Amino acid sequence: MRSKDFFQIIKKIGNSTSLRPIKFKNILIGRAMCGIVGYIGAKSAAGLIVNGLKRLEYRGYDSAGVVTVEDDGLYVEKCEGKVAELDRRVKYGELRATLGVGHTRWATHGAPTDANAHPHTDNSGAIAIVHNGIIENHAAIKSKLSEKGYIFRSETDSEVLAVLIGCHYERLRNLEEAARAALSEIEGTFGLAMVSSHDRDILIVARRGSPIVIGMGEGEYIAASDASAIIQHTRQVIYLEDNEMAVIRRGGCLTKTIQNVATKGKIHELDYDVESIEKGGFAHFMLKEIYEQPTSFRDAMRGRLMVEDGNVKLGGLRLVEDKIRNAKRLILLGCGTAWHAGLAGEYMLERLAKIPVEVEYASEFRYRNPIISADDVVIAISQSGETADTLAALREAKLKGATILGVVNVVGSTIARSTDAGVYIHAGPEIGVASTKAFTSQLAALALLALYLGRMHSLSQLEGSMIAEALRTIPEKIQFILDHAESVRSIAQEYAKADNFFFLGRGANFPVALEGALKLKEISYINAQGYPAAEMKHGPIALIDDKTPALFIVPKDELYEKTLSNIEEVRARGGRIIAIAGEGDTHIQKLAESVIYIPNTLPILQPILATIPLQLLAYYIAVERGTNVDMPRNLAKSVTVE
Ligand code: AGP
Ligand code: GLU
Repeated sequence: MRSKDFFQIIKKIGNSTSLRPIKFKNILIGRAMCGIVGYIGAKSAAGLIVNGLKRLEYRGYDSAGVVTVEDDGLYVEKCEGKVAELDRRVKYGELRATLGVGHTRWATHGAPTDANAHPHTDNSGAIAIVHNGIIENHAAIKSKLSEKGYIFRSETDSEVLAVLIGCHYERLRNLEEAARAALSEIEGTFGLAMVSSHDRDILIVARRGSPIVIGMGEGEYIAASDASAIIQHTRQVIYLEDNEMAVIRRGGCLTKTIQNVATKGKIHELDYDVESIEKGGFAHFMLKEIYEQPTSFRDAMRGRLMVEDGNVKLGGLRLVEDKIRNAKRLILLGCGTAWHAGLAGEYMLERLAKIPVEVEYASEFRYRNPIISADDVVIAISQSGETADTLAALREAKLKGATILGVVNVVGSTIARSTDAGVYIHAGPEIGVASTKAFTSQLAALALLALYLGRMHSLSQLEGSMIAEALRTIPEKIQFILDHAESVRSIAQEYAKADNFFFLGRGANFPVALEGALKLKEISYINAQGYPAAEMKHGPIALIDDKTPALFIVPKDELYEKTLSNIEEVRARGGRIIAIAGEGDTHIQKLAESVIYIPNTLPILQPILATIPLQLLAYYIAVERGTNVDMPRNLAKSVTVE
């Protein structure tokens, strides 16, 4: 479909269809994330771009589109729905272009419709962009452009940027300068890729808040939102910084600031291969990543655990060792699963390092004007390293003088590059939207950090060795649980129809109860709640009835008896008890309808093992309920807007 006027846009609200205009003001800016792929080189662009979009599907989206720069102008194909539908519509046989860009959209302004899908073109139809992020001043710019006679064919904020670039191009007759002029007017965030029939040897990309990675091949460049769309072409990549743009021609790539100051794009080497972003025979990425945990946990500790010395080697912290040693307080920041990891890490760090720890939702911390001192060490936990709230929170803490560490998975990600030092968790790419191996590897990193700090203070070599030895055996214990996954699957089938679910634990297992509840709600859409087991009697127990499964994490630790009492309280009200119990505990069978056994380990490491059956339970229940396990509704893998 050539770029042309779009007819009446049928607007959909929920399941009803109505022609009335939809006001998207104050829309809850949820988990907007999209995928961008751009290509310039010698190969046919359309197919390469669409395949790149398929690699980015895991990020979550609702529409897709592609534009190529053909001899006779721009070819634009775009639609609501999946990349597979776009793939069906693209007229590959008619296309010759070796330059183009593609997009998977996560709607923030304008419903998911064909007209609102990206790419968007300027009024001349000669300039096309794809955009990730939110243009906060789009309304003001749109009315200014409308007064000048420019027209708009979608409801999106992104189209305003396309038309604005076109407006500047009419005056400047230079694509790079027109893009720069337009971006200088923009408030908000962008990951942008732009092509034009004015010049068939230029691909322009730019970023502010939404990641853009540029892969450097032989006489070709592939730009994308993340490296999973690049890895099959090249391992050499440049990560654009905020307010940076790249002007890419077949002969070379120039990086510069939006203010036209040349920058030196640092070249990184990707440290994984294509296989790691394939399903490898598993039904879903999530299941594959659950089963990768013995390896990913081992990789998190590789070269770092010194069992003999009862200590840890964390080279990434060398430059800030004294700051860490003298820290008066640790503040752990994160969102979602990463926040749960922080909560579990709090128990390890306070128990081993004897330093006060606070755990904060990054989204709250950033606006609370927190009281921070130079004696504080702030630890930002993030799998993707791109979560906007976590990035903003760490920047706030940095501004106030704290030392900033990262516990991050994606090497070279924005959060990783914004910290003073850090501990990469080396979990490999995590494609499933529901985080699994990243969580246990975050716990591994936090356990290492707790041991590292503990040994700087009052922890003895003997104690350190005991903890290090226990950590060393975790991967094989995870494997033991995975080898008995079938027992979890049969329990999942029994409870798959539940509408409500409780996850309960005490002490270091309470964060795992929260994580188990999040896993279940994320992918099965069951209303699952996590609570400290003792908290039930302060209200939530009113919700218990004989249709409500209550899962208790109840290893034989110092709180075992207390937790048994909580189980009795729920049982007495008809609740259906599922227990995650330590190997050899036969008593629990008298109280629980279903028991899932896990190997025993040190109490502060028990949460790591307790997590595995909860991941499996959520996975099998979701499969039973037929939901989209790897790309659950309303969710995205990484949340780069607020
Ligand atoms: C976890 O399963 C969710 N996908 C989500 O809560 C996620 O943990 C959160 O958005 C934080 O992401 P990050 O670790 O990439 O910062
Ligand atoms: N705000 C733009 C839109 O709603 C881009 C959303 C995205 O990041 O995909 O189209």
